[in-house]
Amino acid sequence: MATPRSDALVFFGATGDLAYKKIFPALQAMILNDGLDLPIIGVAHSDWDIKKLRARARDSLTQAAKDQGIKFDKDGFEKLSAKLQYVDGDYNDPATFDAIKKALGKAKRPLHYLAIPPSLFGVVAKGLQKVGCADEARVVVEKPFGRDLASAKALNATLHEVFPEQSIFRIDHYLGKEPVQNLLYFRFANTVFEPVWNRNYVESVQITMAENFGVQGRGAFYDDIGAIRDVLQNHLLQVIAMLAMDAPVGSDPESLRAEKLRIFRAMKPVDPKDVVRGQYKGYREVEGVKPDSNVETFVALRLHIDNWRWNGVPFYIRAGKNLPITATEVIVDMKTPPLSLFDEISQKESNYFRFRFNPEVIIAEGARVKKPGEKMRGEPVELVARHHPRPEKSPYERLLGDAIRGDNALFTSDESVEAAWAVVDQVLTHEKPVATYKPGSWGPSEALKIVEGDEGWHDPTPEETSPC
Ligand code: BG6
Repeated sequence: MATPRSDALVFFGATGDLAYKKIFPALQAMILNDGLDLPIIGVAHSDWDIKKLRARARDSLTQAAKDQGIKFDKDGFEKLSAKLQYVDGDYNDPATFDAIKKALGKAKRPLHYLAIPPSLFGVVAKGLQKVGCADEARVVVEKPFGRDLASAKALNATLHEVFPEQSIFRIDHYLGKEPVQNLLYFRFANTVFEPVWNRNYVESVQITMAENFGVQGRGAFYDDIGAIRDVLQNHLLQVIAMLAMDAPVGSDPESLRAEKLRIFRAMKPVDPKDVVRGQYKGYREVEGVKPDSNVETFVALRLHIDNWRWNGVPFYIRAGKNLPITATEVIVDMKTPPLSLFDEISQKESNYFRFRFNPEVIIAEGARVKKPGEKMRGEPVELVARHHPRPEKSPYERLLGDAIRGDNALFTSDESVEAAWAVVDQVLTHEKPVATYKPGSWGPSEALKIVEGDEGWHDPTPEETSPC
């Protein structure tokens, strides 16, 4: 069913880090590529004015262009700048919301984007409601959605006092990534996978999200959450859901969300003994981090999914800062052939599927072929279905565009976000201290024990550039 487009964008947290790194570049791209044409009202409590916000937007776009190795687009900046307005004020002060209402002018269906800490969601939602700016509006909220299951439930209840569920868009930028979408497409647009995508053929699944940098000036924020809340409960469980869910009954958002919810509910709560937490040496010296911090910058764990498709198949998940490389990769390891007829094939050498989400996009299948020559001996090869350097559309451009159109397929529902918290709820508080690791290593050695058998972790390596 077609839903009306939002007619203004109000973004809270406009002077913050996320706005600088992701939102301004996404807005410029939406203006240039998709003809986005609506008032954009930045809101923050920073003692700024519109001049300062425009300068910040310019810096952000200059930096984004530099990162992509392209020229700063002056025309794009000017178009964005012309649509920008700014409201400065305390979220507890009703005058801030009066000013937002004034800035909205004739707009009737604003999209409010809350790029602010979850502790402020309630106060902002109520502030908007009081001045009538929540009626017919949509709200986008950033992750992490709460700190644990109980706080996520409380947050859902608070938001539901102001917005109906279909107007709440819980964003997880991983879901807007081209290769994450391709995971779903590739699985369900080909018949060959379904017969083998289960416990009969899959030995184990691994996902590694490695970053070769530390917490990058976000010490205080990060030290309050750690790796499990920052990327595992959301980005990585979402990827597992895409990988493990059953086929939705249709391509409509509701069918997709329904299947995802079923798979989240089938995930067993992670057992604390299946988790290793690590902290890189030097983390405690980062500004904003407590000198005795026990917060993890690395986590490795074993997850089980209790359903007919996956029972008994371990899902190994690992994420960390200051690892040797920046790459996110999934490996679906298939079982070895029942008999090794020609040469011994170990688990490490058996078939696998590889999905790399960044920095490049890769979908590949690992197989063995006979080496030319007289002997029946083989060697590993990779059949590459997709390999390109970087996705064209940024996740924020895609997701904000979807939210403006009212399409919630790639956003997380209230039930799913709670089900995902339920998976990690038992491993959010810790008596055991974190194990330290050397920056540039693959985390603490204890993490090796998470993977059962002799297979070990598949460490992502730098890719050669590929022609296709
Ligand atoms: C964010 C986390 O959600 O995702 C960061 O807060 C992390 O800590 C980032 O670095 C990774 O996203 P991407 O798209 O750069 O892989």
